Amino acid sequence: MRLTLHVWRQKDPRDPGRFKTYELEDVSTHMSFLEMLDVLNQDLINRGEDPIAFEHDCREGICGSCGMVIDGVPHGSQPGTTCCQLHMRHFSDGDEVVVEPWRAKAFPVVKDLVVDRSAFDRIVQAGGFISARVGSAPDGNAMPIGKDAAERAMDFAECIGCGACVASCPNGAAMLFVGAKIAHLGTLPQGQPERLKRARAMVEQMEREAFGACTNYRACEAACPKEISIQGIAMMNRDYRKAMLSGTGPVGGKRAR
Ligand code: FES
Repeated sequence: MRLTLHVWRQKDPRDPGRFKTYELEDVSTHMSFLEMLDVLNQDLINRGEDPIAFEHDCREGICGSCGMVIDGVPHGSQPGTTCCQLHMRHFSDGDEVVVEPWRAKAFPVVKDLVVDRSAFDRIVQAGGFISARVGSAPDGNAMPIGKDAAERAMDFAECIGCGACVASCPNGAAMLFVGAKIAHLGTLPQGQPERLKRARAMVEQMEREAFGACTNYRACEAACPKEISIQGIAMMNRDYRKAMLSGTGPVGGKRAR
């Protein structure tokens, strides 16, 4: 299969960046999208050119590091699929494919397709934990959890923090990510201690970062490779309001940078 790739190249955060076109011959339909980029990079290295910088780790849809926008869609057009799980059989001979980094103020470009997603880390640092001392790990069956609650919590726990929700949102909002983290812990009995403090701390940190506000486009839900529901946003909003109305302070009382 022949492909024409238009890839965003940007040397560093100060470089204005531009698209560069690459012609690829003999792309195997069995390759993943990242393997296709590996082959292109090997070619660039052989020619003495700078390879395209992109993030990856697990290549199994688990770590959330491989985000990029393919033909205008975060992670490409296959629903419920990360870039590393996207296969070249979904493309056709002669296709022109546009590849660019996440476009969001809160995720500045570091180089080429790599963006700085540390804003997500700071939100989790601000409140995505339980600070109460609970002793050693309890027996797995000591606290029975209903099937519905367990499944709901697992659905939210699937969030891999890739940032596709932010990249797809016209407002650059991070509410699907934060909602998933809050709903994951808040759905379980173990997450009830400090539940409202946690919601307040995470929402307030999110607001200190350069994310926009949610206006219910639901683009985040459509783009999420783990198909996280916006019900997490509703739970986050409920918990945050309850925290504000009850005067519950943020967990730990500390602010991430
Ligand atoms: S490389 Fe880990 S999710 Fe894609």
